[in-house]
Amino acid sequence: MSFSKLYLASDHGGLTFKAAIRAHLEAQNIVVEDLGPHDTASVDYPDYAENLALALRDQEGAGGILICGSGIGISIAANRHPWVRCALAHDETTARLCREHNDANVLALGERVIGLATALACVDRFLDTTFEGGRHQKRVEKLTALPK
Ligand code: RB5
Repeated sequence: MSFSKLYLASDHGGLTFKAAIRAHLEAQNIVVEDLGPHDTASVDYPDYAENLALALRDQEGAGGILICGSGIGISIAANRHPWVRCALAHDETTARLCREHNDANVLALGERVIGLATALACVDRFLDTTFEGGRHQKRVEKLTALPK
């Protein structure tokens, strides 16, 4: 795995994927901290994106996976935090490229948009791919520098 520590969170629309991803990772002896929710009550995705973003702050090398119904709201919320580069992926290619080119530290998935097998494949690519650096380095640095 390309992260020193891994966090997982969702809203109610991502609960099934969250449980399946957690089981998938634990079957590979990958330790993951589940930041909730822990029941089926309707919740607001910005709150769980914030929980995960705050867990990543000051933790060099840590990563996260966020799930909501579409993956859109929770990724927008996570990216409000300047130390988060959250990428919404829909297939293995986008999950791999967000690591290789964008050094994404958070993967977002939409439980109502992709199937579970695709979601697990996205997780695997996100975790086994490293940032290429090189020509991508200065572009990622510009992301952190924004807004001017
Ligand atoms: C919740 O119903 C749904 O709006 C949420 O999971 C997500 O799709 C928002 O972007």
